[in-house]
Amino acid sequence: MSVELREITSETVRAVCSLEVAADQTGFVAPNAVSIAEAHFTPHHWMRAIYANGDPAGFLLTYEDPEEDSFWVWRFMVDAKHQHKGIGRQAMRLLLERWRSLGVTAAALSVIPTNRETIAFYESLGFQLTGEEEGGEPVMRRQLEGSVG
Ligand SMILES: CC(C)(COP(=O)(O)OP(=O)(O)OC[C@H]1O[C@@H](n2cnc3c(N)ncnc32)[C@H](O)[C@@H]1OP(=O)(O)O)[C@@H](O)C(=O)NCCC(=O)NCCS
Repeated sequence: MSVELREITSETVRAVCSLEVAADQTGFVAPNAVSIAEAHFTPHHWMRAIYANGDPAGFLLTYEDPEEDSFWVWRFMVDAKHQHKGIGRQAMRLLLERWRSLGVTAAALSVIPTNRETIAFYESLGFQLTGEEEGGEPVMRRQLEGSVG
């Protein structure tokens, strides 16, 4: 499975907006169209479509303020029909490698507490719950020294 993070263009934005999580996951992440709209009003954002074997399969949006210790995963999703194929894991590794290459020392995100499977997914990538909260949601963080597991 070849996974890439590609810039979203006027030709691909509708395909990215049509990607959807499963019905029981809709409370965990905003629709991509909403995320893309919000990003345009937020400084320090970075977003990419996740492509798998050349097709749009997911979306990620980050918040990258150089004044902060951590860069943040703001939105992250893989379309329901593309899940459980390792795409999310490879996409997150690509993002963390990018951050390490930029000299970022920590990655952070917040999760909805009932999203147990995704918490386990992030734990398997080296994130740990910190006890902090952001916007009422528990924060997970990992340092970026060493290997991107
Ligand atoms: C989280 C998410 C991006 C993972 O994408 P993915 O491409 O399915 O992830 P992977 O295939 O790389 O999964 C790696 C492992 O994580 C775990 N995992 C990920 N999603 C899971 C799920 N929905 N149910 C159970 N286990 C899951 C499993 O251990 C999985 O390994 P397995 O498939 O061999 O069981 C995807 O489930 C998703 O879009 N969820 C809804 C949106 C969401 O919650 N986003 C996070 C907001 S903070």
